[in-house]
Amino acid sequence: MSLTIALSKGRILKDTLPLLAEAGIELLEDPEKSRKLIFPTTQAGVNIIILRATDVPTFVQNGAADIGVAGKDVLVEHGADGLFELVDLRIAQCRLMTAAAVNAPAPAGRLRVATKFIHTAKRWYAERGEQVELIKLYGSMELAPVMGLADVIVDVVDTGKTLKENGLEPRELIMHVSSRLVVNKLAMKMKQTQIAPLVAKLQSAVDARE
Ligand code: ADP
Ligand code: PRP
Ligand code: MG
Repeated sequence: MSLTIALSKGRILKDTLPLLAEAGIELLEDPEKSRKLIFPTTQAGVNIIILRATDVPTFVQNGAADIGVAGKDVLVEHGADGLFELVDLRIAQCRLMTAAAVNAPAPAGRLRVATKFIHTAKRWYAERGEQVELIKLYGSMELAPVMGLADVIVDVVDTGKTLKENGLEPRELIMHVSSRLVVNKLAMKMKQTQIAPLVAKLQSAVDARE
């Protein structure tokens, strides 16, 4: 039986490969050095596909991939219908936070919030009884307050270096983030003999790191 695993280039690929290797799955070619998007592995029938990080939930929900690895930030923003979140892989750890220019006071009018996490930000401010103006961006969020496009941003923060180097400071913590193994609900049923042992091996590999 075949099994398709969806990953994204960069930190998720880099940090997931050692865990998959402990489960006996290794790539035959380095995706970071290739333009291909489908990669066979040392296990016959098991392929790894390379997507944009934000597209991983879509592929897994629709069964175009059986399994995927996605950040909790992306899962919360996208919604998790049709998939099971089975393992906290404890990789790509960061925090989703609000941030603003250093010492910037709150604006008089409605707060302008720039982010790629529109739904998450809207919900978070709504829970605080605050109606905000949301501005959808796809990257380089840190520029928005600097250039006067927004008062605050909602983005992931790790070391805080990116904020600091752009004259911003972290403000409020929205959630702690790490990457999760997600599995298509139907695949979990139909390919259980293949998926269950893989999930167990990945969980042990994560536990062994504690
Ligand atoms: P993208 O192309 O969406 O920016 P990334 O590889 O940068 O993809 O991010 C993938 C996931 O890794 C994010 O959804 C988030 O959970 C996590 N992440 C993003 N930035 C950082 C960071 N600086 N440090 C640690 N984890 C991060
Ligand atoms: C992420 C995020 C922040 C930065 C935070 O960007 O969007 O800009 O990391 O990390 P820090 O607190 O350690 O500085 P990333 O490195 O993923 O770059 P990109 O998504 O813009 O390619
Ligand atoms: Mg990134």
